[in-house]
Amino acid sequence: MENLIPNEEPLRQEYFMSEVNDIIHAKAIDRGVYPTYKVVTFGCQMNARDSEKLSGILSGIGYIEAETEEDADLVLFNTCTVRENANDRLYGRVGQLKKSKEKNPDMIIGICGCMMQEAEEVEKIKKSYRHVDLVFGTHNIYKLAEILFEHLTTKKQVVNVMESAEMIVEKLPNKREFAFKSGVNITFGCNNFCSYCIVPYVRGRERSRKPEEIIDEIKGLVADGVKEIMLLGQNVNSYGRGLDEEISFATLLDRIAQIDGLERLRFMTPHPKDLSDEVIDVMKKNKKICKHLHLPLQSGSSEILKKMNRVYNKEGYLDLVRRIKAAIPDISLTTDIIVGFPGETERDFLDTLDVVKEVRYDSAFTFIYSKRSGTPAAKMDDQIDPKVIKDRFDRLLKTVQDIAAENTKKNEGKCMPVLVEGKNDHLDGYLSGKLENNLTVHFKGQERLIGEIVDVILDEAKGFYYMGHIKTSEA
Ligand code: 5AD
Ligand code: SF4
Repeated sequence: MENLIPNEEPLRQEYFMSEVNDIIHAKAIDRGVYPTYKVVTFGCQMNARDSEKLSGILSGIGYIEAETEEDADLVLFNTCTVRENANDRLYGRVGQLKKSKEKNPDMIIGICGCMMQEAEEVEKIKKSYRHVDLVFGTHNIYKLAEILFEHLTTKKQVVNVMESAEMIVEKLPNKREFAFKSGVNITFGCNNFCSYCIVPYVRGRERSRKPEEIIDEIKGLVADGVKEIMLLGQNVNSYGRGLDEEISFATLLDRIAQIDGLERLRFMTPHPKDLSDEVIDVMKKNKKICKHLHLPLQSGSSEILKKMNRVYNKEGYLDLVRRIKAAIPDISLTTDIIVGFPGETERDFLDTLDVVKEVRYDSAFTFIYSKRSGTPAAKMDDQIDPKVIKDRFDRLLKTVQDIAAENTKKNEGKCMPVLVEGKNDHLDGYLSGKLENNLTVHFKGQERLIGEIVDVILDEAKGFYYMGHIKTSEA
């Protein structure tokens, strides 16, 4: 049988999908129902997209999505490891499932993603979590069917973690969370080695997908009803490095914006150190590209930025923001900020507040510095007292919130296009959707509008979101 198994991808995975499908089908006949799965995602947009690929493979081989992890026949935790304490949360949930597995001995539990690229975590599972059946990392999520096949045929715990990525495997199935919007990877991995960040160690070196693969995928998504695409990469600006064809991110963006039927295009994350004038230019001239940039600041202090290995300083960042605002005056800017990096003084923190006040972000993800073992910053002297960090964090949050509230207030009364994302969870008869700048708007409307772009009048700003009503012609 061995020599029947193709070596090339994606043929090899298609082979295993078909093999597992036969097993699942036989089980379904036996039990009278198809088995169910639940993929639980932690972390960033990149993981969310990976989970769609994992769900695509599981649906392709005959599993049906379950409501909760407790009543699923297969549970897969797609993990994040950016912050040190994320691990405790995961193991709590994995431990809980032991009871469910006692009731349903056929239950399969898998853990994959960033945390599994760390050898000590894998050892911990091998030793203390024997009820976990599948362990794999970030570089071989495409091999889910093969790994599952091995478990189903041997009943053993299968651990398959690769040190680095051998290749980018294209054209495997995926199951989108939303019918009308989708993330699309353009690069994988990161070469920046910011000193606090574990990502380069767990996601490996940066690799770019070929432009024709990206464009084909987007054309396929648009043909399938997708209106909004978010291009994904740890540092989208460095797209193209290592490809045979010489192509910059600006050129790729421009080509994608020409795709007929695509209505909104976003990207994240651009690294401020190499956001080029060409990209700003392409954004300015293409109406489909959302006037929104998520531009992680991390710190406003040049001294701290240097220790973070961010390669720009306070003046450089502010200069970039000035150039962006001059080219696209109504651009919306959002950011990530870390408080309490080792050695951060009150003076450094005031520099951060200074930048926040000058840029006037529409929103910001504010993080307390987490001493992530395995990163250079974890070994730095002068870790900051948690009480001092908490005080700075509260002051930063207040500043961010006040500015965001003032910004949103300015748009009160304006009419803006909104991509309707779904029913509002709390208000009966209400829908929720996203503005071009990614802020949320709630308004009355009929469910048939989900997935459409409609004009909404922004009646009342509520800080980070709006209450509005649909312009009458569309209600
Ligand atoms: N501590 C706190 N925040 C971190 N981030 C990455 N690593 C750490 C860490 N060790 C934040 C950065 C990044 C975001 C995705 O997570 O702000 O932009
Ligand atoms: Fe981490 Fe920096 Fe790479 Fe972003 S650019 S993933 S913060 S190392």
